[in-house]
Amino acid sequence: AKSGYNHFMAKEIHEQPASLRQCLRGRVNELSGSVSVEELSDIDSPESVQLVACGTSYHAALYVARLFRAHGVPAQAHLASEYVTAPAPFDSDSLLIGITQSGETADTLSALREAQRRGASTLAVTNVVGSTAARECDHVVYIRAGPEIGVAATKTFSSQLATGNLLVEKLCASGTKRTSESTRELIPALRDLPNQLQSVIDNSTAKSVVEEYLDYDAYFFIGRGLHRPVALEGALKFKEITYEHAEGFAAGELKHGPLALVTQRTPIFAVVTGDGERAQKTISNIKEVQARDAPVVAVTDGQSEVRRYANHTLEIPQTHPRIAPVLANTQLQLVAYHMADRMNRSIDKPRNLAKSVTVE
Ligand code: M6R
Repeated sequence: AKSGYNHFMAKEIHEQPASLRQCLRGRVNELSGSVSVEELSDIDSPESVQLVACGTSYHAALYVARLFRAHGVPAQAHLASEYVTAPAPFDSDSLLIGITQSGETADTLSALREAQRRGASTLAVTNVVGSTAARECDHVVYIRAGPEIGVAATKTFSSQLATGNLLVEKLCASGTKRTSESTRELIPALRDLPNQLQSVIDNSTAKSVVEEYLDYDAYFFIGRGLHRPVALEGALKFKEITYEHAEGFAAGELKHGPLALVTQRTPIFAVVTGDGERAQKTISNIKEVQARDAPVVAVTDGQSEVRRYANHTLEIPQTHPRIAPVLANTQLQLVAYHMADRMNRSIDKPRNLAKSVTVE
C-alpha cells in the first residue's frame, strides 16, 4: 500500500504532483484564462469572507484569507475552536468557509454549525466526499487530493492552497473586484505547478541538510506575507513528527519577543522568495538571527540574494508569488520527514495524535 515507500507520509509527499493535477483538472481553462468550479456554479460572490479551520487546515485558511483580501474582499481566518467563543459578526452577503481535509473535525463542525444557526451561508472545502462538513454546508468544493493515510497532512495542504486559488478566482470574478491581470499570470503558474513540484521533490537537498542540524535545542521557522502560513505549517509538521521543539513566526515578529530564544543552538528555517521589499525585510530579520550566531537554512528561489547569507539553501523554481508557498512548503515537508526518519520516529502515527479529531 505504501508503493515502495517506507512511510505513507513519503508516498503522499511524492504524490503531490499527481494530486495537484487532479485538483486542477477541468477547473482551469488556459484558452479563456478563466477558472471554473463546477460545484460553485450557483454561488454568489460574497461581500466578505470568514474562514474556520484547525491545525494544518488553519494554515491553509490564513493563506486563502490573504488571497481574498488581495482581491479587495474582507476576509479573516479563525481557529475553529476559538471562533465559537466569539463568532465574528457577518451580514447576509458574507460567506463562512470551513476548510477541513476530513470533513469530520469536531471543532470545525461546531464553528460551521454556530455560523449556520446565525444564518450564515456556508461552504466546505474538503477532501472527503459525503463527509459531515460536505453534507451539512450549503456548498462544498472538493480538493481531490485522494485518500491521505499519514497523520501528518501533506498533499491535502497543497491541494487546499491550490483550491483556495480557484475559489478566490471564481468567487471574486464578477463585478468590480476582479483583478484580471493577476488571474492571467496565475493560470500558467497553476498549470506549471505540478511539474515544478516534481522538480522540487527530485532535487531537494533536505535529507543532507537535516544531517547538519541533529540535536539542536529548538527549530524556528519564519516567513512574511503568504510565506507566514508556510512557516507556521513547517513548524507544525516538524514538531508533530520529530517531537522536537519547533515554532513558526511571522518574520517581522522575531524582534518583538522570540529573538530572546535565538542562539547558535536554534536553527532558523527562513522562507524568502523574490527580490522585492518583502524579501529584503526578511533578509534583515535573517541578519538579526545571524548576529546571535543562529544557523540559517533559507528556502528560496533564484531571485533572492538570501543565499549570500544563509548557511544552507533549499531551492525552489521561480513562479507566481501566490504559488511559491506551495513549493516552499514541500521543502519543509521534506525537512520534517527526513529529520523524523533520521530520528526513527513513528512518522505515520505520531504519539498522542489522531488523523481525525472528532472531539472538541
Ligand atoms: O481534517 P481536518 O483538516 O479538519 O484536520 C484538522 C487538523 O486536525 C489537521 O490539519 C492536523 O493539524 C494535521 N493532521 C497535522 O498534520
